[in-house]
Amino acid sequence: MCGIVGAVAERNITAILLEGLKRLEYRGYDSAGVAVFTHNGTLERMRRNGKVAELEQALAGEPLMGRLGIAHTRWATHGAPSERNAHPHFSGSDLAVVHNGIIENYEALREQLKGLGYVFTSDTDTEVIAHLLNHKLKDQSDLTEALKATVKELHGAYGLAVISAKQPDRLVAARSGSPLVIGLGLGENFLASDQLALRQVTDRFMYLEEGDIAEIRRDSVQIWDVNGKSVQRETVQYRDGAEAADKGEYRHYMLKEIHEQPAVVQRTLENRLGQDHVLVQAFGPQAAELFAKVRNVQIVACGTSYHAGMVARYWLESLAGIPCQVEVASEFRYRKVVVQPDTLFVSISQSGETADTLAALRNAKELGFLASLAICNVGISSLVRESDLTLLTQAGREIGVASTKAFTTQLVGLLLLTLSLGQVRGTLEAGVEAQLVEELRRLPARLGEALAMDATIEKVAELFADKHHTLFLGRGAQFPVAMEGALKLKEISYIHAEAYPAGELKHGPLALVDNDMPVVTVAPNNELLEKLKSNLQEVRARGGELIVFADEQAGMTNGEGTHVINMPHIHDVLAPILYTIPLQLLSYYVAVLKGTDVDQPRNLAKSVTVE
Ligand code: F6R
Repeated sequence: MCGIVGAVAERNITAILLEGLKRLEYRGYDSAGVAVFTHNGTLERMRRNGKVAELEQALAGEPLMGRLGIAHTRWATHGAPSERNAHPHFSGSDLAVVHNGIIENYEALREQLKGLGYVFTSDTDTEVIAHLLNHKLKDQSDLTEALKATVKELHGAYGLAVISAKQPDRLVAARSGSPLVIGLGLGENFLASDQLALRQVTDRFMYLEEGDIAEIRRDSVQIWDVNGKSVQRETVQYRDGAEAADKGEYRHYMLKEIHEQPAVVQRTLENRLGQDHVLVQAFGPQAAELFAKVRNVQIVACGTSYHAGMVARYWLESLAGIPCQVEVASEFRYRKVVVQPDTLFVSISQSGETADTLAALRNAKELGFLASLAICNVGISSLVRESDLTLLTQAGREIGVASTKAFTTQLVGLLLLTLSLGQVRGTLEAGVEAQLVEELRRLPARLGEALAMDATIEKVAELFADKHHTLFLGRGAQFPVAMEGALKLKEISYIHAEAYPAGELKHGPLALVDNDMPVVTVAPNNELLEKLKSNLQEVRARGGELIVFADEQAGMTNGEGTHVINMPHIHDVLAPILYTIPLQLLSYYVAVLKGTDVDQPRNLAKSVTVE
């Protein structure tokens, strides 16, 4: 992961770099650093362990002023989070490098460079790049040419930015497996891992492609592709009002984003629903023709997005009659996959830059899938650019590391896909589609009703504050909802949480249940309700405390050790979307009670651009 910012300008660029880093903290926040070619003609750096705020404070005390610089916020891969492992890494006093990604052959390179007399001062894979580049500069004094020679020896993934005190007129960059974008200014140019970091200084961007090397000067940008050929990349003017990045009245971004769900679900539905059917063209002009051929669906994603895919499997099979497989991308990409004829490959991702999901898509292209479809929240992401079809979720920028509104909008997108496939293939009755379209229209209001339970759930959270383990149970399409609930709780409250299909309880996990293990259950009013009630009896009989989110019509009541929270009644198909809300709120309030860093939980990052 990690975030990179760079700038070459006529003005002092330190404040620009710092602001960029703050906007990139979603990519990692273990340490941060900046290197600037100062007005004294020397390359100087400041690095701090911890968040960008620590670096900012240090720079307030000892400002670095200059017109050329690079900066980095880190999510540690090689070497613990510490100041010595923080980027930029230097080779000598003239060369500074920041890196996002993983260099797989760094150990061999490190040994080779040690043999040449280079001394390593960090445990990172990045430092080998700095020294290797330094070594190449001995044969080839031009920084850009030396970088071209350097990347030929790197195996793995990288987004790189380099500056040298010997050639202070430029910033050079390389992309392979980690995104980089050039921001174009007037008499000044910039570089970053994400255009968001540069929206303060420009709205014109050029996206580097895989294998590109770029030389960025104040008044020119030159790019060479993977074959070394000089190329032009398109300039994109970016306008997006949905980027407001403040917490407003909320204490945390996560709470704000949870509360945004009615609005963003509404936005995700906009222009995609006809009177009684889904508009298949929402997936692109060729979607109808392609969907008619689909006989299987393969979904691939990571984390929360994977849970969305798991819910979609229930929908695709029960509503559209299409066999569906769902797999985490890190497994799919390395498995020998047998592809059934006419299988649609569907990737799901909030960021569209998750390394495993992208690699799975790239593999899929070699495997004979019918076509690829991305359900994604970022229109200018690699996943979207590389897929045949796209459905953009309209969640807006998600800042809290724990995914909330991205998940519910993904579910909406996947339900639209299910209904479209059923419609085009003639496997879904028109009446059922019309009813579900109507339910979808009502969904934002329903989500609002669930959010109104905020205060009740805050109270329930108190039951968890002193607990160390929790079980989440669900049946059918609520099982992935339980998985998502468990993921949310563990990632922000650090309470160990596991999810099980309720019917599996007696096959092992029941042994864990005692009065110290709360059991959270989602219980919509469907044909599995009676079976679920029996599973809950099994828990109560072992002294387990039950927290049940139940349909108001399910007839479940409070009792000793059983806390029932009534949910508004909803059509069973849409229940996974609605029942996600109280589980998000529950995790949030437990984390607040425990005093964790809700928006930036330990060890995590928002965008996982490394394997
Ligand atoms: C959990 C969470 C992660 C992401 C996962 C995939 O709250 O946010 O599990 O869902 O890293 O990220 P995307 O969706 O960007 O591919």
